[in-house]
Amino acid sequence: MKALILVGGYGTRLRPLTLSTPKPLVDFCNKPILLHQVEALVKKAGVNHVILAVSYMSEMLEKEMKEQELRLGIRISLSHELEPLGTAGPLALARELLTENSDPFFVLNSDIICDFPFAAMAKFHQHHGQEGTIVVTKVEEPSKYGVVVSDADTGRIHRFVEKPQVFVSNKINAGMYIFSPSVLQRIQLQPTSIEKEIFPVMAKEGQLYAMELPGFWMDIGQPKDFLTGMCLFLQSLRQTQPERLYSGPGIVGNVLVDPSAKIGQNCSIGPNVSLGPGVVVEDGVCIKRCTVLRGAHIRSHSWLDSCIVGWSSRVGQWVRMENVTVLGEDVIVGDELYLNGASVLPHKSIGESVPEPRIIM
Ligand code: GDD
Ligand code: MG
Repeated sequence: MKALILVGGYGTRLRPLTLSTPKPLVDFCNKPILLHQVEALVKKAGVNHVILAVSYMSEMLEKEMKEQELRLGIRISLSHELEPLGTAGPLALARELLTENSDPFFVLNSDIICDFPFAAMAKFHQHHGQEGTIVVTKVEEPSKYGVVVSDADTGRIHRFVEKPQVFVSNKINAGMYIFSPSVLQRIQLQPTSIEKEIFPVMAKEGQLYAMELPGFWMDIGQPKDFLTGMCLFLQSLRQTQPERLYSGPGIVGNVLVDPSAKIGQNCSIGPNVSLGPGVVVEDGVCIKRCTVLRGAHIRSHSWLDSCIVGWSSRVGQWVRMENVTVLGEDVIVGDELYLNGASVLPHKSIGESVPEPRIIM
């Protein structure tokens, strides 16, 4: 089977991380976001050809995917748009690759994390026999998603409304689809939104079915949601693969630590922390609800809550950072500073506190 992943634009909502690394390569719980998806496609559904629909050219992405092709023993193609084609146009652009055989294919948004239900999706799709299956999940704040009204018994979708202004339902599009090739007849090679232009028509014609997702789900395309997604992911690891979590003196709750990371004396790490490769945490540091990316260094007695520390950044001694502070790559934070909701661009050096949320350029 094949899968097309909508890798899309520049990931502006995940800045400053995406100023130095394309969104799909940003590490989520110590693995690039995209690899969580690709590995699950291979393992759970036997996918052997992944098409990445990109609307910009990234050497970093190309290089990384060459390596993954070899490692996973699958084919990975890049389908490059000259102008952004939205969420449906990329399917028309990749038509030839998608129709090399007549099997249904997966389509995924690239910024979602869950326990990917790919085998169940293939089965459900075959069972109802119509053109499309989308995975749905329930959320408390549905207005920033695509909302679905469907039959509780059969899953048949009656309405699909993208980002509704008024309450329609709390069942939302989780950003994972499986389509029969005939769906391509509905899509022209031009910028098109699958959510606004294609799904509503398919729903009306009875060609779109919803499969409910058991378990956790998160769109991690924004720092705040990235951290929430991390908590949910670690919680699910606790249930399914507790041996992957870290334990030891000063470790609290669900914590993921790369084997090459170093933690000093008298630290309190967790709950909900992920420390990447080569990270150094000096003595007396307290970290909760944070992602610390590869090569970052946290000096002694600092206190971090709800932060993302970018690759190779350095946080000084006795620093306090909180409230979704995000450091881009290679940022230096001086000693004894307070950062509250700061978003710091790559390669910056900070010498003054940031008491209110803002972007530091
Ligand atoms: N190739 C390509 N070209 N990909 C694109 C383009 C484009 O022009 N525009 C967006 N994408 C990709 C994004 O990278 C992302 O993976 C996916 O398409 C969805 O775009 P987002 O910008 O993340 O959309 P959203 O989060 O506001 O809403 C979508 O996801 C929700 C679930 O997270 C919709 O599909 C909603 O219906 C859904 O509920
Ligand atoms: Mg999104």
